Amino acid sequence: MEICDEEYKRSDISSEGVNNMGEILFREPSLEEFEAVQEVFHDVWDMHIMRETYAAQVFNKNASVIGAYLDGEIIGVISSFMSINKRGKKRWEVDLLAVKKSVQGKGVGTRLVQEAIKRGEALQGDYARALIRIENIGSQKAFERAGFKKQEGIYNLILWQTWSFKERLREVQDITYLPMDTLSYRGLWIEDLFSRERSHDEYKMAINYAQQLAHNEKRDNTGATILNEDVSKLPRSIVKQSANHGKYNWWTVDLKA
Ligand SMILES: CC(C)(COP(=O)(O)OP(=O)(O)OC[C@H]1O[C@@H](n2cnc3c(N)ncnc32)[C@H](O)[C@@H]1OP(=O)(O)O)[C@@H](O)C(=O)NCCC(=O)NCCS
Repeated sequence: MEICDEEYKRSDISSEGVNNMGEILFREPSLEEFEAVQEVFHDVWDMHIMRETYAAQVFNKNASVIGAYLDGEIIGVISSFMSINKRGKKRWEVDLLAVKKSVQGKGVGTRLVQEAIKRGEALQGDYARALIRIENIGSQKAFERAGFKKQEGIYNLILWQTWSFKERLREVQDITYLPMDTLSYRGLWIEDLFSRERSHDEYKMAINYAQQLAHNEKRDNTGATILNEDVSKLPRSIVKQSANHGKYNWWTVDLKA
Protein backbone atom coordinates (compact mmCIF):
# COMPACT_ATOMS: atom_id res chain seq x y z
CA MET A 1 0.00 0.00 0.00
CA GLU A 2 2.67 2.47 -0.88
CA ILE A 3 0.02 4.52 -2.61
CA CYS A 4 1.39 7.94 -3.51
CA ASP A 5 4.29 7.22 -1.27
CA GLU A 6 7.40 8.20 -3.16
CA GLU A 7 9.07 11.51 -2.57
CA TYR A 8 9.46 13.28 -5.84
CA LYS A 9 11.73 15.95 -7.19
CA ARG A 10 9.49 18.99 -7.40
CA SER A 11 9.72 21.11 -10.45
CA ASP A 12 8.83 24.77 -10.57
CA ILE A 13 5.08 24.90 -10.82
CA SER A 14 4.12 27.07 -13.74
CA SER A 15 1.56 29.74 -13.07
CA GLU A 16 0.16 29.42 -16.58
CA GLY A 17 -3.41 28.21 -16.71
CA VAL A 18 -4.78 25.19 -18.50
CA ASN A 19 -5.86 27.54 -21.31
CA ASN A 20 -2.25 27.84 -22.38
CA MET A 21 -2.20 24.19 -23.37
CA GLY A 22 -3.70 22.50 -26.38
CA GLU A 23 -6.68 20.19 -26.05
CA ILE A 24 -6.12 17.35 -23.61
CA LEU A 25 -7.66 13.98 -24.36
CA PHE A 26 -8.25 11.20 -21.87
CA ARG A 27 -8.24 7.52 -22.74
CA GLU A 28 -6.97 4.18 -21.56
CA PRO A 29 -3.50 3.54 -23.00
CA SER A 30 -2.96 0.23 -24.77
CA LEU A 31 -0.58 -2.54 -23.86
CA GLU A 32 1.87 -1.25 -26.50
CA GLU A 33 2.03 2.11 -24.75
CA PHE A 34 3.69 0.63 -21.68
CA GLU A 35 6.96 2.55 -22.29
CA ALA A 36 5.15 5.87 -22.67
CA VAL A 37 3.26 5.27 -19.40
CA GLN A 38 6.48 4.20 -17.71
CA GLU A 39 8.09 7.43 -18.93
CA VAL A 40 5.57 9.52 -16.96
CA PHE A 41 6.36 7.71 -13.69
CA HIS A 42 10.04 7.92 -14.48
CA ASP A 43 9.84 11.66 -15.08
CA VAL A 44 8.03 12.25 -11.79
CA TRP A 45 9.64 9.76 -9.41
CA ASP A 46 12.46 7.97 -11.21
CA MET A 47 10.18 5.02 -10.68
CA HIS A 48 9.71 1.89 -12.74
CA ILE A 49 6.37 0.21 -13.06
CA MET A 50 5.96 -3.48 -13.71
CA ARG A 51 5.03 -4.67 -17.18
CA GLU A 52 3.05 -7.64 -15.81
CA THR A 53 0.88 -5.60 -13.46
CA TYR A 54 0.44 -2.94 -16.16
CA ALA A 55 -0.83 -5.62 -18.53
CA ALA A 56 -3.04 -7.04 -15.77
CA GLN A 57 -4.57 -3.60 -15.07
CA VAL A 58 -5.11 -2.88 -18.75
CA PHE A 59 -7.00 -6.17 -19.16
CA ASN A 60 -8.73 -6.24 -15.78
CA LYS A 61 -12.27 -4.89 -16.08
CA ASN A 62 -12.20 -3.88 -12.41
CA ALA A 63 -9.11 -1.72 -12.79
CA SER A 64 -8.24 1.21 -14.98
CA VAL A 65 -5.25 3.12 -16.21
CA ILE A 66 -6.14 6.47 -17.73
CA GLY A 67 -3.73 8.63 -19.67
CA ALA A 68 -3.92 12.38 -20.35
CA TYR A 69 -2.73 13.07 -23.91
CA LEU A 70 -1.44 16.33 -25.33
CA ASP A 71 -0.61 16.29 -29.03
CA GLY A 72 -0.58 12.50 -28.93
CA GLU A 73 1.91 12.33 -26.05
CA ILE A 74 1.02 10.94 -22.63
CA ILE A 75 1.61 13.71 -20.08
CA GLY A 76 -0.17 12.23 -17.06
CA VAL A 77 -1.48 8.93 -15.73
CA ILE A 78 -3.87 7.78 -13.03
CA SER A 79 -4.43 4.17 -12.03
CA SER A 80 -7.28 2.76 -9.96
CA PHE A 81 -8.77 -0.58 -9.07
CA MET A 82 -11.74 -1.98 -7.16
CA SER A 83 -11.47 -3.61 -3.75
CA ILE A 84 -14.27 -4.97 -1.58
CA ASN A 85 -14.28 -4.54 2.17
CA LYS A 86 -15.68 -7.07 4.58
CA ARG A 87 -19.07 -5.34 4.67
CA GLY A 88 -19.27 -5.81 0.89
CA LYS A 89 -18.68 -2.14 0.00
CA LYS A 90 -17.05 -1.63 -3.39
CA ARG A 91 -14.18 0.79 -2.99
CA TRP A 92 -12.60 2.38 -6.03
CA GLU A 93 -8.96 2.67 -4.97
CA VAL A 94 -7.34 5.60 -6.74
CA ASP A 95 -3.78 4.49 -6.48
CA LEU A 96 -1.10 6.27 -8.50
CA LEU A 97 -1.36 9.73 -10.00
CA ALA A 98 1.46 11.45 -11.83
CA VAL A 99 1.70 14.42 -14.17
CA LYS A 100 4.90 15.19 -16.05
CA LYS A 101 6.89 17.96 -14.38
CA SER A 102 6.83 20.27 -17.38
CA VAL A 103 3.01 20.43 -17.30
CA GLN A 104 2.27 20.29 -13.57
CA GLY A 105 0.10 23.00 -12.05
CA LYS A 106 -2.07 23.39 -15.17
CA GLY A 107 -5.10 21.40 -14.10
CA VAL A 108 -4.14 18.05 -15.64
CA GLY A 109 -3.98 16.26 -12.27
CA THR A 110 -7.46 17.48 -11.29
CA ARG A 111 -8.90 16.32 -14.61
CA LEU A 112 -7.27 12.91 -14.30
CA VAL A 113 -8.86 12.50 -10.86
CA GLN A 114 -12.25 13.49 -12.37
CA GLU A 115 -11.78 10.87 -15.08
CA ALA A 116 -10.91 8.23 -12.48
CA ILE A 117 -14.11 9.10 -10.57
CA LYS A 118 -16.19 8.63 -13.75
CA ARG A 119 -14.64 5.21 -14.28
CA GLY A 120 -15.36 4.20 -10.66
CA GLU A 121 -18.99 5.32 -11.11
CA ALA A 122 -19.31 3.32 -14.32
CA LEU A 123 -18.06 0.26 -12.47
CA GLN A 124 -20.65 0.92 -9.76
CA GLY A 125 -18.23 1.48 -6.95
CA ASP A 126 -19.78 2.68 -3.68
CA TYR A 127 -17.08 5.23 -3.02
CA ALA A 128 -13.62 6.13 -4.22
CA ARG A 129 -10.71 6.57 -1.87
CA ALA A 130 -7.09 7.66 -2.00
CA LEU A 131 -4.35 7.62 0.58
CA ILE A 132 -2.42 10.88 0.38
CA ARG A 133 0.69 11.87 2.25
CA ILE A 134 0.00 14.78 4.60
CA GLU A 135 2.82 16.85 3.04
CA ASN A 136 1.63 16.32 -0.54
CA ILE A 137 -0.29 19.57 -0.98
CA GLY A 138 -0.37 19.33 -4.80
CA SER A 139 -2.06 15.95 -4.70
CA GLN A 140 -4.49 17.00 -1.98
CA LYS A 141 -5.56 20.03 -3.99
CA ALA A 142 -6.06 17.99 -7.16
CA PHE A 143 -8.24 15.44 -5.31
CA GLU A 144 -10.13 18.15 -3.43
CA ARG A 145 -10.88 20.10 -6.60
CA ALA A 146 -12.22 16.90 -8.14
CA GLY A 147 -14.62 16.40 -5.20
CA PHE A 148 -12.74 14.26 -2.68
CA LYS A 149 -12.99 15.10 1.02
CA LYS A 150 -10.33 14.51 3.66
CA GLN A 151 -11.37 11.98 6.30
CA GLU A 152 -10.58 12.47 9.96
CA GLY A 153 -7.51 10.85 11.45
CA ILE A 154 -3.84 10.70 10.59
CA TYR A 155 -2.73 7.25 9.53
CA ASN A 156 0.74 5.71 9.52
CA LEU A 157 1.50 3.52 6.55
CA ILE A 158 3.19 0.55 8.18
CA LEU A 159 4.79 -2.26 6.21
CA TRP A 160 6.22 -5.62 7.20
CA GLN A 161 8.52 -7.85 5.21
CA THR A 162 7.20 -11.15 4.01
CA TRP A 163 8.39 -14.10 6.07
CA SER A 164 8.21 -17.84 6.20
CA PHE A 165 7.58 -19.06 9.74
CA LYS A 166 8.47 -22.54 10.92
CA GLU A 167 5.60 -22.77 13.38
CA ARG A 168 2.04 -23.25 12.21
CA LEU A 169 0.11 -19.98 12.18
CA ARG A 170 -3.61 -19.58 12.56
CA GLU A 171 -5.92 -17.01 11.10
CA VAL A 172 -7.20 -14.37 13.53
CA GLN A 173 -10.93 -13.69 13.69
CA ASP A 174 -12.37 -10.71 11.84
CA ILE A 175 -9.20 -9.67 10.05
CA THR A 176 -9.31 -9.05 6.34
CA TYR A 177 -6.35 -9.80 4.08
CA LEU A 178 -6.62 -8.18 0.68
CA PRO A 179 -4.18 -9.03 -2.10
CA MET A 180 -3.34 -5.89 -4.10
CA ASP A 181 -1.65 -5.96 -7.48
CA THR A 182 -0.87 -2.37 -8.41
CA LEU A 183 1.35 -0.84 -11.10
CA SER A 184 4.29 -0.49 -8.75
CA TYR A 185 4.03 -3.33 -6.23
CA ARG A 186 2.26 -6.52 -5.23
CA GLY A 187 1.20 -6.30 -1.64
CA LEU A 188 -1.18 -7.71 0.94
CA TRP A 189 -3.28 -5.22 2.87
CA ILE A 190 -4.34 -6.01 6.40
CA GLU A 191 -7.68 -4.51 7.39
CA ASP A 192 -9.89 -4.51 10.51
CA LEU A 193 -6.94 -5.02 12.88
CA PHE A 194 -8.51 -2.61 15.35
CA SER A 195 -12.17 -3.40 14.76
CA ARG A 196 -12.30 -5.05 18.21
CA GLU A 197 -10.22 -5.43 21.36
CA ARG A 198 -7.35 -7.84 20.81
CA SER A 199 -4.55 -9.27 22.92
CA HIS A 200 -0.89 -8.76 22.04
CA ASP A 201 -0.78 -12.41 20.97
CA GLU A 202 -3.64 -11.86 18.54
CA TYR A 203 -1.99 -8.81 16.96
CA LYS A 204 1.26 -10.73 16.60
CA MET A 205 -0.50 -13.73 15.07
CA ALA A 206 -2.47 -11.51 12.68
CA ILE A 207 0.67 -9.78 11.37
CA ASN A 208 2.75 -12.96 11.22
CA TYR A 209 -0.06 -14.70 9.34
CA ALA A 210 -0.07 -11.84 6.81
CA GLN A 211 3.71 -12.05 6.43
CA GLN A 212 3.45 -15.77 5.77
CA LEU A 213 0.56 -15.40 3.32
CA ALA A 214 2.41 -12.64 1.44
CA HIS A 215 5.51 -14.84 1.35
CA ASN A 216 3.56 -17.80 -0.03
CA GLU A 217 2.05 -15.60 -2.73
CA LYS A 218 5.45 -14.05 -3.56
CA ARG A 219 4.26 -10.55 -2.70
CA ASP A 220 6.57 -7.59 -2.02
CA ASN A 221 5.32 -6.87 1.50
CA THR A 222 2.28 -6.68 3.74
CA GLY A 223 0.97 -3.58 5.41
CA ALA A 224 -1.77 -1.56 7.01
CA THR A 225 -2.75 2.06 7.56
CA ILE A 226 -2.84 2.56 11.30
CA LEU A 227 -4.13 5.55 13.27
CA ASN A 228 -1.53 7.24 15.47
CA GLU A 229 -3.38 6.21 18.63
CA ASP A 230 -3.66 2.56 17.51
CA VAL A 231 0.07 2.05 16.89
CA SER A 232 0.60 1.88 20.67
CA LYS A 233 -1.82 -1.08 20.91
CA LEU A 234 0.55 -3.26 18.90
CA PRO A 235 3.23 -5.30 20.71
CA ARG A 236 6.60 -3.50 20.69
CA SER A 237 8.34 -6.40 18.92
CA ILE A 238 5.90 -6.17 16.00
CA VAL A 239 6.34 -2.40 15.68
CA LYS A 240 10.12 -2.79 15.78
CA GLN A 241 10.04 -5.18 12.84
CA SER A 242 7.99 -2.78 10.72
CA ALA A 243 8.89 0.14 8.48
CA ASN A 244 6.87 3.31 8.90
CA HIS A 245 6.37 4.95 5.52
CA GLY A 246 4.98 8.22 6.81
CA LYS A 247 1.75 9.93 7.69
CA TYR A 248 -1.28 9.97 5.47
CA ASN A 249 -4.94 10.94 5.30
CA TRP A 250 -7.66 8.96 3.60
CA TRP A 251 -9.59 11.04 1.06
CA THR A 252 -12.96 9.80 -0.20
CA VAL A 253 -15.81 10.68 -2.50
CA ASP A 254 -19.22 9.04 -2.68
CA LEU A 255 -19.85 7.43 -6.09
CA LYS A 256 -23.53 6.72 -5.53
CA ALA A 257 -24.63 10.28 -4.76
C1 LIG B 1 0.14 15.90 -7.59
C2 LIG B 1 0.01 16.07 -9.09
C3 LIG B 1 -0.52 14.79 -9.70
C4 LIG B 1 -1.00 17.20 -9.33
O1 LIG B 1 -1.17 17.32 -10.72
P1 LIG B 1 -1.19 18.78 -11.38
O2 LIG B 1 -1.58 18.63 -12.78
O3 LIG B 1 0.06 19.46 -11.06
O4 LIG B 1 -2.39 19.38 -10.52
P2 LIG B 1 -3.37 20.57 -10.89
O5 LIG B 1 -2.73 21.49 -11.86
O6 LIG B 1 -4.69 19.97 -11.25
O7 LIG B 1 -3.41 21.31 -9.52
C5 LIG B 1 -4.42 21.31 -8.57
C6 LIG B 1 -4.06 22.39 -7.55
O8 LIG B 1 -2.87 22.00 -6.84
C7 LIG B 1 -1.87 23.00 -6.96
N1 LIG B 1 -0.59 22.30 -7.00
C8 LIG B 1 -0.19 21.42 -7.91
N2 LIG B 1 1.02 20.94 -7.56
C9 LIG B 1 1.36 21.56 -6.41
C10 LIG B 1 2.49 21.48 -5.54
N3 LIG B 1 3.51 20.68 -5.80
N4 LIG B 1 2.49 22.23 -4.41
C11 LIG B 1 1.44 23.04 -4.14
N5 LIG B 1 0.34 23.14 -4.91
C12 LIG B 1 0.32 22.41 -6.03
C13 LIG B 1 -2.22 23.72 -8.24
O9 LIG B 1 -1.67 25.02 -8.27
C14 LIG B 1 -3.72 23.75 -8.15
O10 LIG B 1 -4.10 24.68 -7.18
P3 LIG B 1 -5.40 25.58 -7.27
O11 LIG B 1 -6.56 24.62 -7.16
O12 LIG B 1 -5.31 26.49 -6.10
O13 LIG B 1 -5.34 26.25 -8.60
C15 LIG B 1 1.33 16.44 -9.79
O14 LIG B 1 1.83 17.63 -9.24
C16 LIG B 1 2.37 15.33 -9.64
O15 LIG B 1 2.50 14.46 -10.51
N6 LIG B 1 3.12 15.34 -8.55
C17 LIG B 1 4.11 14.34 -8.30
C18 LIG B 1 3.52 12.98 -8.02
C19 LIG B 1 2.53 12.96 -6.89
O16 LIG B 1 2.73 13.55 -5.85
N7 LIG B 1 1.44 12.25 -7.14
C20 LIG B 1 0.35 12.17 -6.22
C21 LIG B 1 0.51 11.09 -5.25
S1 LIG B 1 0.28 9.49 -5.98
